[in-house]
Amino acid sequence: MKTKIHVPPIKIQGIKTKLIPWIAENVELHEDTRWIEPFLGSGVVGFNIAKKNALFADSNPHTISFYQKIKSGEINSSLVKQFLYREGEILSKKGQEHYNFVRERFNNEQNPIDFLFLNRSCFNGMIRFNRNLKFNVPYGHKPERFAQAYITKIVNQIKYLEHAFSLNNWEFKCQSFEDTLNEVKEDDFIYCDPPYIGRHVDYYDSWDETNELKLHELLINSRAKFMLSTWDNNEYRENEYLKSVWNDCFKLNKEHFYHIGAKETNRKPMIEALITNYKKSTKPEVEEMPEKNYVQMDLFSMIEKISTQHGT
Ligand SMILES: C[S@@+](CC[C@H](N)C(=O)[O-])C[C@H]1O[C@@H](n2cnc3c(N)ncnc32)[C@H](O)[C@@H]1O
Repeated sequence: MKTKIHVPPIKIQGIKTKLIPWIAENVELHEDTRWIEPFLGSGVVGFNIAKKNALFADSNPHTISFYQKIKSGEINSSLVKQFLYREGEILSKKGQEHYNFVRERFNNEQNPIDFLFLNRSCFNGMIRFNRNLKFNVPYGHKPERFAQAYITKIVNQIKYLEHAFSLNNWEFKCQSFEDTLNEVKEDDFIYCDPPYIGRHVDYYDSWDETNELKLHELLINSRAKFMLSTWDNNEYRENEYLKSVWNDCFKLNKEHFYHIGAKETNRKPMIEALITNYKKSTKPEVEEMPEKNYVQMDLFSMIEKISTQHGT
């Protein structure tokens, strides 16, 4: 895998940036394997790991439209730079009033560049839509958010995507995971990072047991190799679906720390899991000793022991 991790311009809860090296080590991809990602989110996983062919999808139309417009050139790094300088200056003078103004404008016009502004200046970089499909995350209370260094960082993130999108055959679709998985061919590789069960906080991002069972069924029936990111356990709870739904798959674990709030002391461990329908052999296979050899070894050591006891 490329050593530098490219962080995308969109932020999202549950972003997998820190887990990318681990995911990359364990995927099974060839140069011409098509990468299928039904739960794209920020795109950080696929944009760093996919090869030249990919289908990126999500039920959230705003992230998909943002990336589609970068791909078509409708949104580009110089446009974003001008826009963030202009809007950022107004934000520094008017604060919350301007944030609310852009949020209202976005909710009426759905312009993806407004979505970027909101995503980078809202509370905790969250993405949340109510049932009337309105973005409803409050202001992050940082009027100086779009300082020069921050704008440069975002502009460079967009430049990287412009470059990557021009080199690769990467397709973006706003659709449900069912529709995406119905497009899969046996030699594709599927990476899934669905929402966690029971967190019904967002219109586009809710998940329940029926979804989990459907996802399992579609992945198994696809006959393609797949990897699912999920959680295994934390200090209070275990992910019961690993035993009840995913028990016919392989599992890899890794400890990961996440922060609650801003305090460094609020660092909580979480055991992450990668579920696959294949076993990746990273090391050369160790030839297993035939069982009868173990028996012979036992006989030899017994004879040796008896001889020592009898002084022979
Ligand atoms: C945990 S996030 C993925 C995070 C991503 N791996 C990253 O690192 O940025 C889950 C994503 O699934 C999408 N999603 C939720 N329900 C969906 C569904 N039924 N079909 C397709 N996408 C869905 C959400 O919009 C969200 O972007």
